[in-house]
Amino acid sequence: MPLDQYQRDIDYVRISLTDACNLRCVYCMPENMKFRARHELLSDDELRRLITLLGRIGFRKIRFTGGEPTLRPSLAELVRHAAGTPGIAHVGLTTNGVLLDQLARPLRAAGLSSVNLSLDSLDEARFRRLTRWGNLRDVLAGLAAATAAGLGVKLNAVVSRGINDGEDVIALARLTLERAWQVRFIEQMPFGNNAAFQTRGVVRESDLRTRLAGAFGPLEPVNGGRLEGEARLYRLPGARGTVGFISPVSRPFCADCNRVRLTADGVLRLCLLRDHEVNLLMLLRSGATNSELEACIRQAVHEKPWGHGLAQHLIPASRGMSEIGG
Ligand code: 5AD
Ligand code: SF4
Repeated sequence: MPLDQYQRDIDYVRISLTDACNLRCVYCMPENMKFRARHELLSDDELRRLITLLGRIGFRKIRFTGGEPTLRPSLAELVRHAAGTPGIAHVGLTTNGVLLDQLARPLRAAGLSSVNLSLDSLDEARFRRLTRWGNLRDVLAGLAAATAAGLGVKLNAVVSRGINDGEDVIALARLTLERAWQVRFIEQMPFGNNAAFQTRGVVRESDLRTRLAGAFGPLEPVNGGRLEGEARLYRLPGARGTVGFISPVSRPFCADCNRVRLTADGVLRLCLLRDHEVNLLMLLRSGATNSELEACIRQAVHEKPWGHGLAQHLIPASRGMSEIGG
């Protein structure tokens, strides 16, 4: 398993399959967002080659992300390749769920283990306001299809002040009373030219926990408050599922970070919130051998930055979330 210079096990890679999306969430991208041309993105062959190498290097978990990864026509084939790659034990998907109704079964059949579904509101009008273009019904159908197909499901809500930090947070948390689901609330992170909006809108974990405790009673820490992935989990009184908090802004989890990201245009991004990048696409297209690529990836992992610089007001400028992969 690759270790970085701080002795963290880096065994998880998030691979963005496209920077394009069929929604335009207000905290993520402007409505007139421009996307990269196809030839600027890793081809399916290039992706398969890199996935095989990543398995050989010691990565154990792959998550496909976007933009919106279900927009990539070859998604199921890439899942099949990843799931069949020696060393890879888990293949997950982060999706907005719009197309999941149709895709859940074939993806499960291809070897997908789990989906992280973005769901920021259970109210149709507010869901539309947040996503600009989304229909809540499509996503709920996708959620039902994913559950029926036997996929592990986690729900993710980015919380934006004044939009979904009231009733919506309560309604989403309430889902865990009846269902053994994990509903996770994410602190909105600042990127590039949307940073002012994102910083103004951030709702801290501590405020959310106070709000939830007021509505449901005391939250009981799960796993002694230890991180599961990037989330700290709690149980509402009497609940079957758990609520989680992913709090990169107020409670950074960099010390436990185990991941790197591969962007759709073939760049290894060692930290979500640092602009340091290593261009694998250029290497691939200039005829690098597998051992050269492998050495480059190992070196990049070794040099993974210690953590982000949000506390020092260092905000990543080169790409937004949808161009990196959530
Ligand atoms: N901060 C935190 N999460 C974000 N996402 C998109 N933009 C941001 C941001 N600025 C989330 C989406 C989805 C995942 C792909 O990333 O809501 O859950
Ligand atoms: Fe698309 Fe996800 Fe960004 Fe929303 S948050 S616009 S679903 S990439």
